[in-house]
Amino acid sequence: MKSRVIIDATTPVGILSERCYGQFIEHLGECIYGGIWVGRDSKIPNENGYRLDVLNAVKDLNPPLVRWPGGNFSSGYHWEDGVGPLSQRPRRFDMAWMAEEPNFFGTDEFIDWCRLIGAEPFIVVNAGNGTPEEAARWVEYCNLNGATHYASLRRKYGHEEPYRVRLWGIGNELYGEWQIGFCRDGSECARRTLEFANEMRKVDPSIELVAVGCEDPEWNMEMVKEAGKCFDYLSIHYYAAGSKPYRELVATPIHVEQMLRNVYSLVEAVRRKHGVKREIKIAFDEWNVWYPEAKEPLITQVTRVRDAVFTGGILNALQRLCNIVPISSFAQTVNVLPLIIAASDGRMVLTPQYFVFKIYGGNKGCSVLRTLVDSEHYMSTEAGGYVPYVDASATVSKDGETIFLHVLNRSETDIVELQVDFKGFTPKSGLQQFIAGESVEDRNTLEEPDRVGIEQTGVDVLDGRVSILLKPHSVNVVRLNR
Ligand code: AHR
Ligand code: AHR
Repeated sequence: MKSRVIIDATTPVGILSERCYGQFIEHLGECIYGGIWVGRDSKIPNENGYRLDVLNAVKDLNPPLVRWPGGNFSSGYHWEDGVGPLSQRPRRFDMAWMAEEPNFFGTDEFIDWCRLIGAEPFIVVNAGNGTPEEAARWVEYCNLNGATHYASLRRKYGHEEPYRVRLWGIGNELYGEWQIGFCRDGSECARRTLEFANEMRKVDPSIELVAVGCEDPEWNMEMVKEAGKCFDYLSIHYYAAGSKPYRELVATPIHVEQMLRNVYSLVEAVRRKHGVKREIKIAFDEWNVWYPEAKEPLITQVTRVRDAVFTGGILNALQRLCNIVPISSFAQTVNVLPLIIAASDGRMVLTPQYFVFKIYGGNKGCSVLRTLVDSEHYMSTEAGGYVPYVDASATVSKDGETIFLHVLNRSETDIVELQVDFKGFTPKSGLQQFIAGESVEDRNTLEEPDRVGIEQTGVDVLDGRVSILLKPHSVNVVRLNR
């Protein structure tokens, strides 16, 4: 198959947000306990309790942002249980996931984790069975410097300097009956959000707030109309059903891109109609594929090359949406719907999705460029129409010297010969990295951990024109230097 892409370096569409390829970790299954944290006394090699192989694998991804502690877990979590000497922390029954929560991993451990991996913390407060006061105290514990009780408590526990956590979520999926303390409708959630925002901002007026949104337009309308003046981002979650056939699964990012644009358009319309002055953008703070086998209590699955193609599709969409969706977090980093599988016997597996994050994170660029793709198509019910086999998005480095082309070949069978032309840029050399495996079902397992990985090849540049081959079902990042 032949295809062509034009990259227009003369008209950047926007700046790629620092927070765009974020991660999400939850107290659920073996994500935190066993995945991120094994404790200092574990036989598994660790650094102060943090599992070393996972720590190094996550560091390699350079995630800009980590959302924590949930998820559903946050709606029953009382943060004061998770600070102070480990031996004195209560073991609680976690009603969100019907599990035992030892509280060994709390706020200080989370901040430490973020520092170890160089990421910004994003804390979701308990707006389920928690109170605005409890949330405000959490902000105080993290961000205040005075002599008040909770700021002093942080110092007492060994952390002199405030953590300066900027980004806070008010609740999680409060629209769902599965959520502890869920709301009847958007109006009820708006009222609750206002109360939390008021108290949290009194403690630290500089914080940025993420409020609960969903795909239901009525909910979002009520939230923006009645509480839009107090939050900066509306949260949206999306899980693609893993049971979809390959061609449908890899078409879902088209639906997601449209859905996120629609949510934003509605937010803008409601702001205009009701004179909401505060700017509101979208936080796409949980997303992944969810396979039927990923069931409670562990919610594990082993994702494959097909899921890597889906993941590349979402990351390309997020680049194009850079002006309206500056925050995203992948659900989840380890063991739960995992990017990384960390077994209790000390073995670790990196999934094809992990490698997608690795090549995107390592080749981020700064501004997003306009790209035009000419490609053959197929029909998909998921996308509600034609799906191009090739999806491309490009970014450029701050100094303008390097263009990063992120390009998928969705075809299950055909190689694509891709011709790349440029406006306002003349490349001299290039390097292509990709994830393809041998089939869409290829995956890495504990028994065969290296089946799928990152492959690499040089790129031919002739008179400023580039021609590359895209393997079937591949996710590619092409780095082009001037
Ligand atoms: O990521 C797993 C769960 O999915 C989260 O706890 C919840 O927010 C979502 O429904
Ligand atoms: O698996 C439990 C819940 O079911 C998830 O949190 C939610 O997304 C789904 O409806």
